[in-house]
Amino acid sequence: MAVSQVAYPDHLQVEVEQYLHTLSFSRDRATDGLEQAMRYSLLAGGKRIRPVLTLATAAAVGRDSASVLPLAAAVELIHTYSLIHDDLPAMDDDDMRRGQPSCHRAYGEDVAILAGDGLYAEAFALLLSEQRGEPACVLAAARELAFATGVSGMVGGQYMDVAGSAAEGPDGLRQLHELKTGRLIAASVNCVLSLVANLEAATVASFRAFADELGVLFQIVDDILDVTGSTKTLGKSQGSDERLGRRTYVSEFGLDKARRLASESHRRARAHLDRAAPGRGTELVQITDFIANRSH
Ligand code: IPE
Ligand code: IPE
Ligand code: MG
Ligand code: MG
Ligand code: MG
Repeated sequence: MAVSQVAYPDHLQVEVEQYLHTLSFSRDRATDGLEQAMRYSLLAGGKRIRPVLTLATAAAVGRDSASVLPLAAAVELIHTYSLIHDDLPAMDDDDMRRGQPSCHRAYGEDVAILAGDGLYAEAFALLLSEQRGEPACVLAAARELAFATGVSGMVGGQYMDVAGSAAEGPDGLRQLHELKTGRLIAASVNCVLSLVANLEAATVASFRAFADELGVLFQIVDDILDVTGSTKTLGKSQGSDERLGRRTYVSEFGLDKARRLASESHRRARAHLDRAAPGRGTELVQITDFIANRSH
């Protein structure tokens, strides 16, 4: 299917975009330059897949999507921080991100490191001060997000990527992808389950299985696009993985098998979603199909 024909829940993306534009961080002129660097990367127009997933999950469990905007924005702040740090010369050394010079190219490495640190902390400040819900549920969502981004999550996965420390074989590669990308994508769904807290155990288990599979699918497709995409459509440098000698689904299995594995993962994700939200997950189905078929 051509990507232009894959529907995306644009109305949720607009909701996210508008909310992100309202955020400001600096309370002092002396830190305005830091806020400028943070907003430079945050408002550069990513696909907003993670916060859109958060809003779509809320809709799938019968909540108003706007009711989880602070949580959704917190996830996007954290994702943006991870991109800024991922691009640094000490990590992937990439000059382009979201169609513009990466944060360190625009503001210098020192400010880019601090912009990432700032986004991470401000994400939790936002979640813990603006997200409505039972206090215990908000805390549970914050805990889920913290674990998803810590050593057993995104940062641990990034470490395994740069250190080449993942176990050999398909299981090791899948674990690497689960951690470095999968956990934050999964948290975009799972934090809503923590916040809502009145769902049946079987429904929660199906949502979690869906979220895990979707996270891995996302990174398999990212690996494929790193080879088959163009810098222009991706908005980031094509070919980084090969240049850095990184372990990916393409380096491990070749392009054809990586595509086959992506399509199997897509099928599994859809099956879990059918069980989690039968007849109620239209927007989640759209995002899942978009992630599988996207060109950027
Ligand atoms: C890129 O994520 C980084 C990875 C985890 C592979 P996205 O492809 O979601 O990037 P944006 O947010 O649209 O820029
Ligand atoms: C990075 O994976 C995942 C993050 C946690 C940011 P990549 O290094 O493959 O992401 P891109 O391709 O630069 O966006
Ligand atoms: Mg990387
Ligand atoms: Mg990278
Ligand atoms: Mg990549």
